[in-house]
Amino acid sequence: MRKLQKVAIVGAAVLGSIGSFGVGPAFAHGEPGHDGFDITQGIECRSHDMNIDVDDVVRRITPKTKAIVAVHFCGYPAKVVELRKICDERGLVLIEDAAQAVGASVAADGTRAGSVGDLACFSLFSKNQLCVGEGGVVTTPSEELATKVRSLRSHAMTSVTWDRHRGYAETYDIMDVGFNYRLDEPRAALALSRLPRLAADIESRRELARTYRRRLAGLDGLELVWSDEDVEHASHFAFPVVLADEPTRDRFRERLSDLGVQTTWYPAVHRFTDYVENFGELSLPNVEAAAQRHCALPMSAHLSQEEIDIVVQSVEEALSDLPDAAAA
Ligand SMILES: Cc1ncc(COP(=O)(O)O)c(C=O)c1O
Repeated sequence: MRKLQKVAIVGAAVLGSIGSFGVGPAFAHGEPGHDGFDITQGIECRSHDMNIDVDDVVRRITPKTKAIVAVHFCGYPAKVVELRKICDERGLVLIEDAAQAVGASVAADGTRAGSVGDLACFSLFSKNQLCVGEGGVVTTPSEELATKVRSLRSHAMTSVTWDRHRGYAETYDIMDVGFNYRLDEPRAALALSRLPRLAADIESRRELARTYRRRLAGLDGLELVWSDEDVEHASHFAFPVVLADEPTRDRFRERLSDLGVQTTWYPAVHRFTDYVENFGELSLPNVEAAAQRHCALPMSAHLSQEEIDIVVQSVEEALSDLPDAAAA
């Protein structure tokens, strides 16, 4: 597997800006002579695990396809090793959105999410496994891309203040349209200081996922996503469960909220206003069903046994309060 040669730290998981917040991955097509990305297609997710459907990727590749963005949804690894092969055979760029998946393994040999793509982004936002409040990390095996990302994070300047302070450069030039995506030193230091406990935090989340699965399995009206084996490879950003349909999911969430249990859900990427306005209406039934039916239960490395008991009992109560007809 490719070895990571360069890590560039930036102030945001920049790939979110080309459309990967929420359920559903995307293709990026570029016109010849056109520098920007033009996302003209989405890709289905697999109905049973909400991650990118590799067969659908193959079906949708066109001569205009330049890149594939694969989200590791909720920290469960997408099939990026298969996608790598597909991209290599066709000369396409693979981008991993690993914002939710730091520490997840994408292959039996322990290859990590984010180390297979030509570029990968991670988020350090406060909900994430490695949280420092804000910021992110971009990884790439390419020296050229690392240089480009470093440049773009700081206004595309040829040197930054620290280079000049150390005497490496006298002045600077601006080479492109860049951004201020710099991660400030205090947050970078916090991220580094938290790294040593990341593995233990992920293991706590994994243990919580195992407990949820054990205690929620077989409840009427509730489906678990992924398998026990998948749990061992994932890094558990969130724990989604699936209800019969959207109204049932919404009633379930309302009831849990009444009981003091906070939940969330992730909308379908291709239904966001900006996406529709720019790329038009798209039908992705699996992605839509996943977005409409799932509900993410509380997940953190620091939930106590007592809090887990409260969530599980509240889930049972919320399910028993659903109208019979709505339950699956
Ligand atoms: C899948 C995914 N991609 C990208 C992002 C963006 O990360 P950030 O807010 O750190 O830029 C998020 C944020 O939650 C995310 O969940």
